[in-house]
Amino acid sequence: MQFTVAIDGPAAAGKGTISRALAAHFGFAHLDTGLLYRAVGRRTLDGVPAVIAASTLRISDLSRTDLRTQEVAQAASEVAANPQVRAALVAFQKDFARREGGAVLDGRDIGTVICPEAEAKLFVTASAEIRAHRRWLELTQAGHDADEAQVLADVKARDARDAGRADAPMKQAPDAILLDTSDMSIDAALETALAHVRDRKERH
Ligand code: DC
Repeated sequence: MQFTVAIDGPAAAGKGTISRALAAHFGFAHLDTGLLYRAVGRRTLDGVPAVIAASTLRISDLSRTDLRTQEVAQAASEVAANPQVRAALVAFQKDFARREGGAVLDGRDIGTVICPEAEAKLFVTASAEIRAHRRWLELTQAGHDADEAQVLADVKARDARDAGRADAPMKQAPDAILLDTSDMSIDAALETALAHVRDRKERH
């Protein structure tokens, strides 16, 4: 059985939490595609040219523990604007999406470019202020020293770059359900996502 759930949207909107919960619930594999760009961005910070880093990426690079910093997030967003970097990462994502047993992929261009034929699509968003606040809480709770105004500026810069690039910009697919989590609890957002995917599965 092939069944793809495409989850797109900006940083810190809740995509990761929703994707992991959906994958666990339906027994699907999960790919956080942001990690691919983060792993490439990380290697560019080490001096490796972006296109080389993308074309020689290994699965083991995705489990590096230093991919979650703000510095790597910005580097990821920069390399993600390079069409050659994106092209080098397409086949792996497409294969993952159409694997047997079902898959959840989250990112920016899953429902539009990687898997336009996905059986279920969600665009998960929230206001920049709320997303920055959530990210700031995560960072401070993890013991990092973070300034909320700086986190907000980073979130806005990344949104503008990800939505403004020419190749595969972050965009809601016409057939994606919009889930704005600004005023929603995690549980309510999860329930809405679950109901949508369940409905699409029953029709499948
Ligand atoms: O989801 P994330 O914050 O880990 O993603 C990091 C960056 O990678 C993001 O700012 C843009 C880029 N990205 C992308 O261009 N396309 C994707 N499918 C996923 C991430």
